Amino acid sequence: MPEKAILRDGVLREFAERILQGAGLAPEAAAVTADCLVYANLRGVDSHGVQLLTFYVDQFLAGNVRTRGHGNVLSESGCCLLYDGENSVGQVVSAACADHAVRLAQAHGVGLVSARRSNHFGAAAYWAERISARGMIGIVMCNASPSVPPWQGKDGRVGTNPICMSVPGESSRPWLLDMATTTVAMGKMFKARMAGQTTIPAGWATDKEGVPTTDLATALGGLLMPLGGYKGSGLAMMVEILCGVLSGGAMSTEVGGVYILSRPMGTCHLFLAIDVARLVPLDQFRRRMDRLVETVKSSRPAAGYDEVLVAGDPEWRLEEERRRQGIALDAGVWTKLVAAAARAGVDPPPCAMLESDPPPGP
Ligand SMILES: NC(=O)c1ccc[n+]([C@@H]2O[C@H](COP(=O)([O-])OP(=O)(O)OC[C@H]3O[C@@H](n4cnc5c(N)ncnc54)[C@H](O)[C@@H]3O)[C@@H](O)[C@H]2O)c1
Repeated sequence: MPEKAILRDGVLREFAERILQGAGLAPEAAAVTADCLVYANLRGVDSHGVQLLTFYVDQFLAGNVRTRGHGNVLSESGCCLLYDGENSVGQVVSAACADHAVRLAQAHGVGLVSARRSNHFGAAAYWAERISARGMIGIVMCNASPSVPPWQGKDGRVGTNPICMSVPGESSRPWLLDMATTTVAMGKMFKARMAGQTTIPAGWATDKEGVPTTDLATALGGLLMPLGGYKGSGLAMMVEILCGVLSGGAMSTEVGGVYILSRPMGTCHLFLAIDVARLVPLDQFRRRMDRLVETVKSSRPAAGYDEVLVAGDPEWRLEEERRRQGIALDAGVWTKLVAAAARAGVDPPPCAMLESDPPPGP
């Protein structure tokens, strides 16, 4: 039976912070980066949780990221701001950019921040929620390493390019869509490998010749499949345009990767804040949002389902559970995390190792 390491979120956050500081980050930078990663674990988005530290630490120790940088504003014009991440930590750049977007939206109704020369920023939801927590609609995107072929192609030309939108609601968590424009995010394949799986579901990936595969090793050497065929391909291009082209930064094959140590990642982000109150009073928007969600959920469930969910529901349910019961990391992830901690000169905290169910099949 595989085992799982169970840690309270506070313990995991503190461990992640120590690792990040050991790898060269200042305390404030380590805090926001750790919080972003543990946020993803809490919500069950383990692909963008602390397993990323195994890659981040190598990036930081190799000097491939400016661990003490924070980036700078290149220009500000009305509601638009252009930010140069100067190859700093993605979460440090994103915290500054999301806050600029809110500031601009407070002044102008809309705040649009375009960032270039940044690094991996984790789960987009963390940044969109940072904006929606201020009573605004938050829309966040980024480009990523070119692991996805264009529709009808077989060479990687765009990334998993996520799209995320978070809104303020009457209930604190009404709707939060955070999705890669591929069937799944690349991190889900890394998670499967760390969990010791050898196969993946059909529809996730192809081999390097573009032939669909369910063999994990072949898929890791191959390409990810766009979400919903040519429509996903179009959405990925949309993100590439709004992030890479618009910011003047790296695009398509110019983008590096979180696991590529030979050159900076150069990823680009887009942060959009919309001040709801400029259009309808915020409390009215919140109530209407809740009514929309209720109406959507009032649909009768289709055969095979016993309820209708909206975006964000699966993650918030897991978050409640994980806050109570702790975060369970696959033994493979824990082992790699402890090894990354050792590289950063940090000891792991004690944690419970529990026997668990066999890993899910394809
Ligand atoms: N930083 C990067 O470079 C990068 C790149 C790609 C993806 N990502 C991140 O990867 C993470 C995972 O992306 P993903 O596409 O694999 O996520 P996913 O497929 O697990 O979920 C996508 C969305 O679908 C919603 N959803 C799931 N089940 C649902 C249901 N039954 N009914 C209604 N809605 C439902 C979820 O709430 C979520 O908003 C995201 O956090 C994303 O930001 C990051």
